[in-house]
Amino acid sequence: MPVELEDAKRTAIAMQLAEMKAVQNLLILTEQRLMNEVNDDSVHQQLQNMLEQDQKNLGVLDTVMIQYGVQAELKDAVKQNLERTRSLIEGSKLTPSEKLLQHELLKHRQTMAGLIIHKAAQIVGADVEVAIAPLHTINFENRAHQEQLKGSLEILGVLELTGQEPDQGVQARTEDAITAFTGVVGSVVTRTDDEMSIRDVLLMDHSKTDILFAEVLGNNDPQKIREYFGQLYQDVKVHGLAEEQVLYPALSPYYDQMQEIVDQTDHVIELLNKMKSFNPANPNFKAQVEQLRLAVRGHIDQEERDIFPRIKDNLSSEQQKTLATDFKAAKSNLQEQQQEQKTFSPPQPSVSPSNSSYQAKSWLIFMNNTIPWKLVFQTKAVINWIEAVILLVGDRWIREALNTEPLVNTEYSQLVYGLVFIIGIGYWWVSQDITKNDAIIKLGIYAQFSVFTVLAYHTLFGNLHPFYLVSGVIDLTFGILFVLYLYLRNHAEENIQTKEI
Ligand SMILES: [Fe+2]
Ligand SMILES: [Fe+2]
Repeated sequence: MPVELEDAKRTAIAMQLAEMKAVQNLLILTEQRLMNEVNDDSVHQQLQNMLEQDQKNLGVLDTVMIQYGVQAELKDAVKQNLERTRSLIEGSKLTPSEKLLQHELLKHRQTMAGLIIHKAAQIVGADVEVAIAPLHTINFENRAHQEQLKGSLEILGVLELTGQEPDQGVQARTEDAITAFTGVVGSVVTRTDDEMSIRDVLLMDHSKTDILFAEVLGNNDPQKIREYFGQLYQDVKVHGLAEEQVLYPALSPYYDQMQEIVDQTDHVIELLNKMKSFNPANPNFKAQVEQLRLAVRGHIDQEERDIFPRIKDNLSSEQQKTLATDFKAAKSNLQEQQQEQKTFSPPQPSVSPSNSSYQAKSWLIFMNNTIPWKLVFQTKAVINWIEAVILLVGDRWIREALNTEPLVNTEYSQLVYGLVFIIGIGYWWVSQDITKNDAIIKLGIYAQFSVFTVLAYHTLFGNLHPFYLVSGVIDLTFGILFVLYLYLRNHAEENIQTKEI
């Protein structure tokens, strides 16, 4: 039996590749035609960029086909279908926006074809996978183009229908950003984690940033703004720092303006840090957010325009995957660090009830860093108990030792020391949760200052042996400590409130 040279599956893939090449040529033609017909600057610029990438991708496609090594002809039906589209594009029956719609459909078709070939190659064999590996970058760019085209279609369509540019207000921007994000995520989730390249990961982050900005700017509820800004703060900071740790050093040999990118990142982080103490209810807040958004967007644009192609041109797909893994690890570390820092100095806790325990926890940590307050209250409780018991039980011996008169009405001293013991129980309760029972602390302050005053007065006028003043001084000391405690705590709480707004 002769060796089977023709594998049906391989031929089918070859046909799909041939179709991709035909579609790629048609995409280029459409872009060239549209550039002559479209007046809008942003759409024109977008088409220009797309054309450059598509021309380069045509070369990539050629390489893939050569590497693949199996040739196939286009199916007649496909040929006719593409011919029809070509005549529509070259003709004058369609408006520019209608032609752009045809172009967008072609892009979709191209994206799907690339994705299907990629998946099919996984089934057919490792050699096929290797041969078609560069398709991955084409697929990636096509997905991005699809998202961009949605925006251009909107502009041209609305312009043709109304003679005006569409509303690019905050609501529209939110929807655009969410659409873009869904597109990116949708394209990425079809791949396994280790197939995700660094550009996929970065692009997902960038799109999420757009959404968060749109959410912050589109909201009027200070609580919601605070929530979104909190997320934005964390996401952008972590993303930027992880890029500085992993991405920029890896790419700096291929990009001589890397310092500029690093400076931009530092600037954005500086702005973020400044803004975290601002009050979202302040009318200037949104203007500041918009300023931040412009800085971030400008930076992202430069990154996607300059660094993305350098990733693709200089790093192997293996290196890109490694970079993606390292980037994700760096982010995860930074997120952990942020979480820890948050526990000590929260950047944006809110005033909702769910956060009040969080606030309490924060200042508790702050307070205990100053002095272990729990121990202070425990100590005073034990001192009260020991003092009460010794003075109650040992009153007679103490007076003998001090050579002072025995008491006439012992019931009074028993009442006093009984109260000292009971107040000790109160301090113990305070020590169990120093965020509660402020009233007991205040009562303790009055009691301790009174004890000292009375004892000091009688010692001063010689009515009392100075030995008794020892307990008065102890009370005075703890009285001062209790005052200090309440003062520091109120201060810490005020600090957190200011940070929060
Ligand atoms: Fe960046
Ligand atoms: Fe980035």
